[in-house]
Amino acid sequence: MSTANQPTIPATLIPGDGIGPEIVEATVMALDVLGARFDWETCSAGLAGMKEFGDPLPQSTLDSIHRTKLALKGPLETPVGGGYRSSNVRLREEFKLYANVRPAKTIIPGGRYDDIDLVLLRENNEGLYVGFEHYIPIDGDPHAVAMATGVNTRAGCRRIAEYAFDYAVKNGRKKVTIVHKANIMKALTGLFLDTTREVAKKYEGRIECDQRIVDACAMQLVLNPWQFDVIVTTNLFGDILSDEIAGLVGGLGMVPGANIGVEAAIFEAVHGSAPDIAGKGIANPVALMLAAAMMLDHIDRRDLGGRLRQGIDATLNVDKVRTGDLGGTASTKQFTAALIRRLNT
Ligand code: NAI
Repeated sequence: MSTANQPTIPATLIPGDGIGPEIVEATVMALDVLGARFDWETCSAGLAGMKEFGDPLPQSTLDSIHRTKLALKGPLETPVGGGYRSSNVRLREEFKLYANVRPAKTIIPGGRYDDIDLVLLRENNEGLYVGFEHYIPIDGDPHAVAMATGVNTRAGCRRIAEYAFDYAVKNGRKKVTIVHKANIMKALTGLFLDTTREVAKKYEGRIECDQRIVDACAMQLVLNPWQFDVIVTTNLFGDILSDEIAGLVGGLGMVPGANIGVEAAIFEAVHGSAPDIAGKGIANPVALMLAAAMMLDHIDRRDLGGRLRQGIDATLNVDKVRTGDLGGTASTKQFTAALIRRLNT
């Protein structure tokens, strides 16, 4: 399909922190070469939002996403321990982005694991990430006891479960594995397990369903990841398992994520702001580029999403241009230039 006469699509662009601006610039260049006609509204958040507006999630950024309902986002830094609450979590709450979709697929063969092709679907709004935490002071120690409350609702569990089975049907997947810890957290993750099993019944004969306790699942992912197809799990477990799954396909530089909700969709890499390599020009932009490909699929430009994925594949495997995290020597800019040559051929 020619793009010349297509209308432009308003979208919010958040360069983010650390390596964010470097990989966002690379991704936007690739999208431009593809002819993806986004009309970007560039906004800040995270540390950049703090510096510019004194707010890690400035109102102007929220207003922009409310308008466009579509965003491409670089990673946002969150202080560990004290400091402001994660802007990522707040964005997911503000726009009810209840489904976090993280596909992991082997692109470079010959690594520790070959032919990985699985998708992790993480509930994105509930569980232990709701931020209901407090300390109880005892004997003059203000932090003598720390408490956190997790919240799962039947409606929230049903929504992500339905999303997971629907996703499996639409994407030609065969099996959904429910991951939980209902042997210990009987209420919090028991509700998730029971509700998801209920939903699974509606798909009997079409989508196979099994279940794993999260710790066993973590081990099975290392021993035999090929047994998994779609995994659906709660917020915290999904966060942890998705980094493990990234390790199966070459690391954090290779895994994209989509936050899908009722009111918007935000696309990002699974990795964080990588402060250890920020500003060095060596970050791998592939995860964010794959997130941009998911964004193209989302707006029904699967043709362009497919071309971007093919271009990345050829740059990595035919031209063998790779960044340091993949054992190569290319800088972010060199990788991007090689990809653009591919996209132009
Ligand atoms: P991280 O994902 O930023 O980095 C972990 C390791 O992976 C580092 O050694 C880093 O150099 C490497 N790495 C990550 N992405 C890479 C890439 N594209 N190319 C090459 N190497 C890459 O995790 P970390 O250090 O735990 O978190 C740093 C900050 O990012 C924290 O403030 C955290 O809260 C935030 N974060 C933000 C996320 C988001 O915005 N969605 C997700 C995860 C973390």
